[in-house]
Amino acid sequence: MIILAIESSCDETSAAVVEMDGEKRVIHSNQISSQVATHALYGGVVPEIAGRAHAECISRLTYAALDEAKMSMKEIDAIAVTCTPGLIGALLVGVNFAKGLAYAYGKPLISVNHVKGHVAAAYFEYPELRAPFFAMIASGGHTSLTYVKSATDFEPVGRTRDDAAGEAFDKVGRVLGLSYPGGAEMDRLASAGNPDFIKFAPAVIADTLDFSFSGLKSAVINYVHVTQMKKNEIRREDVAASFTKTVVSSVVKNLEKAYEIYRYDTLVLAGGVAANSHLREGVSNFASSYNIKLCIPAKALCSDNAAMIGAQGYFEYMAGKRANLTLNAKASSGKAAF
Ligand code: KG4
Ligand code: ZN
Repeated sequence: MIILAIESSCDETSAAVVEMDGEKRVIHSNQISSQVATHALYGGVVPEIAGRAHAECISRLTYAALDEAKMSMKEIDAIAVTCTPGLIGALLVGVNFAKGLAYAYGKPLISVNHVKGHVAAAYFEYPELRAPFFAMIASGGHTSLTYVKSATDFEPVGRTRDDAAGEAFDKVGRVLGLSYPGGAEMDRLASAGNPDFIKFAPAVIADTLDFSFSGLKSAVINYVHVTQMKKNEIRREDVAASFTKTVVSSVVKNLEKAYEIYRYDTLVLAGGVAANSHLREGVSNFASSYNIKLCIPAKALCSDNAAMIGAQGYFEYMAGKRANLTLNAKASSGKAAF
């Protein structure tokens, strides 16, 4: 089955053509137009600018994805689009464009939850991956430990009570003078630093599988401010490494706690923060010591892209789910996020 997928939930416009059938997984194209440079001027995503930028490039990008795949709309079996969660003005651009295409070409329309899409990115590298499994999802807007009961039925068993992990990376990056979004640069800085330089309290909530990254972020910011006031040198690499070590050990702590309860044998690590080399390494070590099969998408598929939306769209379609022209975008998919 060949799916044209469209993603516009935040600051990346993306269109992809993917082919999925049984264990067949092919990414024929995955065009991404990032607005990061524009938003970096403001230190974060400006929703109005994001919506306009999506509208400016979505049509060109979609036809570029078809061109790269050497296909026309005739060969497309269905259109998948992210409808939640995200910035409302941004989501609406993708949803309305996809609705227009589905109507004009008479194709089935599939609505996809963006966070489920992050998890579905793993199917490309692990075609044998089958629910049920557990997923640790860490992105800029979402962080949860989720029981994936079936490919389309997700139940979070732990979540952040405040900031998402990516948000914490970006905010700490900002106080260390990095431009938005600082996550990827924090990864590089941390590699050059001493992770035991500062000891921060873990970002987990006792007796639950929940996280709290806001306290950790504030602790780092306080450390930086106090060091500045004392006119001491801020060792950015060491701060980044110590912060990252705390994030990784907090994630591993909750994965261990969850293992004691659920005894899961397969784990997916997904979302933009899953690109973090220290997190990949920490979670890999945890998984191998517990004999858990770990599936982490390729780095390029961890951050926002439409191929992952196509992959989830395939499973939604196989589960019989169809959207129609009444489909609307929703900024938040509720507390559970799914
Ligand atoms: O999943 P994503 O692309 O967008 C959302 O759905 O939010 O995640 C973006 C987040 C940003 O906060 C970015 O800084 C973070 O993922 N990120 C990283 C790394 N690469 C991206 N955080 C830590 N280390 C990285 N290597
Ligand atoms: Zn995302």
